[in-house]
Amino acid sequence: MKSDTPLQLLGGLTAREFLRDYWQKKPLLVRQAMPGFESPISPDELAGLALEEEIESRLIIEHGERPWELRRGPFAEDAFAHLPEHDWTLLVQAVDQFVPEVAELLEEFKFLPKWRIDDVMISFAAPGGGVGPHFDNYDVFLLQGYGKRRWQIGQMCNSDSPLLQHADLKILAEFAKTEEWVLEPGDMLYLPPLLAHCGTAEDDCMTYSVGFRAPSAAEVLTHFTDFLGQFLPDEDRYSDADAQPASDPHQIQRDALDRLKALLNEHMSDERLLMTWFGQFMTEPRYPELIAGIEIDEQAFRASLQDGAVLIRNPSARLAWSEVGEDLVLFASGQSRLLSAGLRELLKLICSADALHIDNLGAWLGDDEGRNLLLELAKQGSLEFADE
Ligand code: SIN
Ligand code: CO
Repeated sequence: MKSDTPLQLLGGLTAREFLRDYWQKKPLLVRQAMPGFESPISPDELAGLALEEEIESRLIIEHGERPWELRRGPFAEDAFAHLPEHDWTLLVQAVDQFVPEVAELLEEFKFLPKWRIDDVMISFAAPGGGVGPHFDNYDVFLLQGYGKRRWQIGQMCNSDSPLLQHADLKILAEFAKTEEWVLEPGDMLYLPPLLAHCGTAEDDCMTYSVGFRAPSAAEVLTHFTDFLGQFLPDEDRYSDADAQPASDPHQIQRDALDRLKALLNEHMSDERLLMTWFGQFMTEPRYPELIAGIEIDEQAFRASLQDGAVLIRNPSARLAWSEVGEDLVLFASGQSRLLSAGLRELLKLICSADALHIDNLGAWLGDDEGRNLLLELAKQGSLEFADE
């Protein structure tokens, strides 16, 4: 089984061993996780992306107009012309959505659920550049893409950890270094959430951060209860049939709490709704404005595919599927569709295939429910026709 194959990416560990011993627990340095890795984009191309309106980017200048100055993109063409020779870094978010060769890197991380992956951020740093000692709330794999970077790791942190005052960024006031390594292209460092780290460019360098996402407990509670609330009629209320006479009418008694807990439990344990909410929430796109569907009718849609047109996943779309009772659900960019159990193989194909066409869709094009699903996804924009 795949999970028991030693992976070069994990320094010869199997996915199972990595998940058991390191994931969410402790750092792992892997020399030549991707042997001979060459960054598919150059520093100039990265700077070019930072000029684009729809791409999130940041410049961090250690000794700028103030210590650890943060400037947000999109940047003007001459923004990089007047930077110091040292001690600054440019970070560009979600490059995987804009550069297919960067998205391909994510294939290496297939041993983790796709819906846990956030994006591939790429940084370029001049010598001495970095974002300062900090911690993240998420797991990250830091792959060295170009040049050398010194990584230091320190203590475990949390939201009480003291931060520098007056910095635009959340930079730790204290950093207790425990280990350090210099990473070269192809080397990779995995860091669990909350571990303090500090990366400093030894020379011009580029680092790829494969970042993960996990909703906070506060997000789960507020968003799920909002979702749930839409399905609850107004008459579904706190009720106290069979209440005992009040001994003191001003006291809220324990039995009221028990009734509230019963009300919460009854609704919170609805697994169908919990799964539906979760799938929708976890597939919400980072850039919804980049998911624009097309107007097309059934006949034209079917004819296009039969004529050899190719459907691809919109690089900004997120897809996932799951079982809900006897049925299946497809989650696509924040929306869900309940489907019959017979569509399992089609759902897997839609979520995993790079391209959908007459050859791999085969009989599904003749299946009304299957074809209709594809049509809806094209109309919604999660799937789109590839340019010829
Ligand atoms: C960087 O690439 O400079 C920052 C990555 C990180 O520390 O999370
Ligand atoms: Co970090």
